[in-house]
Amino acid sequence: MDADIEKVLIDEEVILRRLDVMAERILEELGNEEILVVGILTGALVFMADLLRRLPVPLQIETLSVASYHGGTESSGVVKFLDAKLPEVEGRNILLCDDILDTGRTLKAVRTKLMEMGAARVKTAVLLSKDKDRAEDVEADYYAFGMGDEFVVGYGLDYQGRYRNLPYVGVLKEEVYSR
Ligand code: XMP
Repeated sequence: MDADIEKVLIDEEVILRRLDVMAERILEELGNEEILVVGILTGALVFMADLLRRLPVPLQIETLSVASYHGGTESSGVVKFLDAKLPEVEGRNILLCDDILDTGRTLKAVRTKLMEMGAARVKTAVLLSKDKDRAEDVEADYYAFGMGDEFVVGYGLDYQGRYRNLPYVGVLKEEVYSR
């Protein structure tokens, strides 16, 4: 896997140090209420696991699955909810977690859905926020790193289902896309 990586953008140690800071901010702002964490599968898994272990407060965890990429490197523009049953969110204070904020379509669609389902409040946390014009008017309440508009893998992020288990965020070699 490492052999397919052109460059490491953010290494594990740096990620974990930023998550310490993010967790502190979340605790300051949300630490006095019972949070329901909703993670967007599959990309948010690794980020959530490390972030939530830094939040020593009572919380519950739910997940939901959406699709917008269909295995490539470009967003399809349509966000589909894939679960037969979505989490019970009525009246809850939610921390919605995703791996990366790109066009904004995913976060916007999921946030809107949770509010429609009766959530009291939805705060959003992502590992990465691409610095670009978004298709939807949405920003994350908490993000660990800003980055340019390039496709990245690792630390939960995939290309065609692979590379999620790399402990760092990196950029793939060009040749990987033509295989
Ligand atoms: P949007 O465009 O809806 O994107 O903000 C959010 C979802 O798109 C995927 N995504 C990426 N996945 N490398 C990835 O592996 C990337 O650079 C990338 N950019 C967007 C991701 O699933 C995210 O939840």
